[in-house]
Order: sequence, then C-alpha cells, then structure tokens
Amino acid sequence: MRGRRKDRARSSNQQKGGDSKVDDRPSPVASPSGDPKVAVPGGGDGTMLPVEPSIEVLEVEPTPDGGVEITDITAVLDPDGTVEVERTTAVLDADGRVDTVETEEQVLEVTESDDPAVEEPGAPNDEDRAVTGSAPISQVQAASGNPLPRILAVANQKGGVGKTTTSVNLGAALAELSYRVLVIDLDPQGNATTGLGIDARNFERSMYDVIMRDASLEDCIEPTSMKNLFVAPATIDLAGAEIELVPAFSRELKLKRAIESVIDDFDFVLIDCPPSLGLITVNALAAADEVLVPIQCEYYALEGLSQLMRNVHLVASNLNAGLEVSTIVLTMYDARTKLSDQVAAEVREHFGNKVCRIIIPRTVRLSEAPSFGQPITAFDPSSRGAIAYRELAKEVSGGAS
Ligand SMILES: Nc1ncnc2c1ncn2[C@@H]1O[C@H](COP(=O)(O)OP(=O)(O)OP(=O)(O)O)[C@@H](O)[C@H]1O
Ligand SMILES: [Mg+2]
Repeated sequence: MRGRRKDRARSSNQQKGGDSKVDDRPSPVASPSGDPKVAVPGGGDGTMLPVEPSIEVLEVEPTPDGGVEITDITAVLDPDGTVEVERTTAVLDADGRVDTVETEEQVLEVTESDDPAVEEPGAPNDEDRAVTGSAPISQVQAASGNPLPRILAVANQKGGVGKTTTSVNLGAALAELSYRVLVIDLDPQGNATTGLGIDARNFERSMYDVIMRDASLEDCIEPTSMKNLFVAPATIDLAGAEIELVPAFSRELKLKRAIESVIDDFDFVLIDCPPSLGLITVNALAAADEVLVPIQCEYYALEGLSQLMRNVHLVASNLNAGLEVSTIVLTMYDARTKLSDQVAAEVREHFGNKVCRIIIPRTVRLSEAPSFGQPITAFDPSSRGAIAYRELAKEVSGGAS
C-alpha cells in the first residue's frame, strides 16, 4: 500500500506452513477512524503521525476442519480521492498453526456519480463496499435533505426484510449523531420494543393505548439505554387494533394526531410498520412525511412493491398530500452471492437516486443484537453492521440540523 500502515506486519502471498501459534481465537474487531485530523503516536521521537481516514475490519470465520480464517481488511482514503484496500487472509488449522497467509491490494477509483444505478454490479468496489458495509466517504450523499423534524414510516408489507433492524439501528446511529430520535413500534410483534431493551412487564402504556384509547403518546414513550433514543413500545394487543379500528372515527389519523403532540421534542421519528398494508400501516403513512422502504437483497425483492407504492399514492391523494417514498435501503447484502448484486442493480434501475448508496451487509452480529436488547452500535460498535448503519445515518440525515 505504497508504504502506508508500516505498523502492520506485512506478509508475502501464499505463505504456507508457518508455525506461529495462537492461544485464543481472536474475536472480530474493527477500528474505524473517520477523522482526518486524528494523529497517533508514531515517530520514535514521540511526535504524532497524521492518519488518513481509514476503516479496518477484522473478520473471523470458522473453517470446516475446525480451524479459523482471519481476514483483515483496511481501506484508506487517499487525498487524491482513491481508496486503497488491503486484504490479508490467514488460515489457521485446528491447533492454531498458520496454514496460509494471502495479501491482496487494490486501489479503487472513487468517482462522483449522480446516478447510483450506473454502478456496475459485481465490480470489485461493490464487494469491498459490502465488506466494509459502507460506501467511500466522498460518495456519501444525503438520501433526502428534508428539514427537521422528519417523520419516516419504515414500511414494506413483505415480512423479514429488515424493517425493524433498520428502525432500531438507524435510530440508534442517528441518536449517536446527537439527533433526538423516537422509534414508534407499530408492530404487534413488538420486535423494536424488545430490540431496544424494553420489557413489556415494565411499561404501563403502549401504542395500543395511544391508537385505541387516545392515551397520550408522551405518557407511552420510554427512554432506552442510548442517549437521545426513545421508543414508543408495542405489545401483542396491537394486533386487535387492526380490527377494532375499522368502525372508529378518523381511524386513519389516530397516529398523526398523537405524533403532533410530541413532535417538538424530536428530530427524527421512525415508525416501524408491521408486514401488512392494513389500517395500522395506513396510520403510519398518514402520519409520516416520508416512507423508507428496506429491500432485502434476495429473490422476489421487488415483489409486492407496486402495491406498497399504490397505497402510498392513495394515502398521498386522500390523507397526506406531502407523503413521498424518499429512501430505499438495500439490506442483507451478501457479497458472496451474485444474486445480491443482481437485486441491488435491479432496485437501483427501478428507484434511481432514492436508493441509498450504503448497502447493509448480512452479518450475524446484526441478527444477534436484538436478543441482547441493544442496537448494533452498542452491542458491537466496531462491527460491519454498526459501521454500515452509522454511514446510513449520515446519508439519511445529510447533516441536517
Ligand atoms: N443485515 C442483516 N444481517 C443479518 N440478519 C439480519 C439483517 N437484517 C435483519 N436480519 C435478521 O433478519 C430477520 C428479519 O429482520 P427484521 O425483523 O428486521 O425484518 P422485518 O422486516 O422487521 O420483519 P417483520 O416483517 O416480521 O416485521 C431478523 O431475525 C433479523 O435479526
Ligand atoms: Mg419487524
């Protein structure tokens, strides 16, 4: 890498049969340092060496024969706009002996493109972006520069596409950027509630009371363990609201009225919708300014989206004139499959610049975090998922104030 990162041991390609040993398997570590002004102790005389913006990710994967594969990926943004990526993969056998070490280096050109759809699927930088979970910093673009406060309905009637994961982790990453964020759990499954560490036994009011009993939203809001991040919890009761709402007066506008009473306290309100287009989702669409649609990089990704778009237009023409689909987030991208690339390209072709440049990678840590009641930024702050959601927060907020 043109002499950079001399602090790291360099290894020649395809070393075989070294005899170094490791006692413990290292756990995944990553150290993002996005601040170009950062300096580290370096010169033997105690001076500080400047550090360029870089991300380093360590991945550890077990191998089928009981060994372990460790991959160290470092991406450094050069002042000339190129990104140097160095990837070192070491395979250790079951006894901890080094089997092979491979180093690959790549220099990626970063071009400012107005049309993200022109990105070539399968190009090397697609894969590297997925590995680091983020686009090069100079490519980050606001998905929407809309003024604060912003109310986003996170919706897709397809189940399991990452609505809740995105509501929780984008919310947490926005809160880290010092925005005040409210996540409204509008799904009777209550996954955003538990994913943010709120136990149904510990709150008195839920979104059911707000929607069906006109309870105040303010009384329902719970703080989370993250500064600036709040949640309006849901319980299974909310399933009944879908039917109970049918004869209710102003049934589509219940949530809108409730949010109006607290909106001055927040910069972002993210509404985690259930996987349906029923009255609960209509309430979310009627209350929101924008719709954020997570799309899973999987088969049939676009299936059902025309129905969602139709509903958004219906709500926009009858209940909420300003409503627009502002943001599409590609989720669960798996760099190992061609399919992920194909889906990403197809979605970009369809939705153009509404599609965020940041793609959320599929990572086990993201799926583990909810069972610890923590967003990924707290559960594993330096993981690929945390880095990706932080970059998404920057892109979505566009630095709005
Ligand atoms: N990027 C990711 N990598 C790995 N697992 C993920 C990722 N995003 C989400 N998951 C997992 O996939 C499952 C579905 O995600 P999630 O609950 O966010 O989807 P959803 O759209 O909210 O689902 P539902 O429609 O049921 O509400 C969960 O188990 C979640 O932990
Ligand atoms: Mg969900």
